[in-house]
Amino acid sequence: MEKQVLVAYATKYGATAEIAEKIGQVLRQAGLPTDVLPADRVGDLSAYKAVVVGSAVYIGRWRKEAVKFVEANETVLAEQLVWLFSSGPTGEGDPVELVQGWRFPKKLQPVIDRIGPRDIAVFHGAVDVGKLNFIQKWALKNVKAPVGDFRDWEAITSWATAIAAELKGAGLA
Ligand SMILES: Cc1cc2nc3c(=O)[nH]c(=O)nc-3n(C[C@H](O)[C@H](O)[C@H](O)COP(=O)(O)O)c2cc1C
Repeated sequence: MEKQVLVAYATKYGATAEIAEKIGQVLRQAGLPTDVLPADRVGDLSAYKAVVVGSAVYIGRWRKEAVKFVEANETVLAEQLVWLFSSGPTGEGDPVELVQGWRFPKKLQPVIDRIGPRDIAVFHGAVDVGKLNFIQKWALKNVKAPVGDFRDWEAITSWATAIAAELKGAGLA
């Protein structure tokens, strides 16, 4: 069957890839044929009716693969149903409050405005200090991000379930 939904993600250590896979799993279970791919490995976007794009956040920035993806595909994405997510904040509590209302890099505001996403979510992330090199450990201290896996699978599942409902309402699946 023709793929209808793409989940494109940018990750450094894999936490965001797992969030993207979870979103893909929920969409497939809802009957929506879905591809989950790293943002720098996506070919022709035009076959998809809906696209979810997510990136890990490092020092207030999205990974460059995600930035390139939205910038390079702006025209096609503007014609599709699009959802965005950032995955980053660690620690207890509302992830948007943890990052003082930040949702995506401000530099991307113009392109995101032109794309017109249905929603932009912020999910808790995971920091495994054992995977970080010296510079990243130093950078981590500066952003004061607690170490640990704070990913909220319930929040991710419920966001993906709402996407599935909207897509089904739009006649997909
Ligand atoms: C050096 C460093 C800087 C980070 N900076 C931010 C940040 O500015 N904002 C944020 O919300 N999370 C930040 N984080 C947390 C990461 O976004 C989080 O660990 C994320 O889940 C990583 O995803 P990945 O495993 O897909 O790369 C930072 C983590 C590290 C190690």
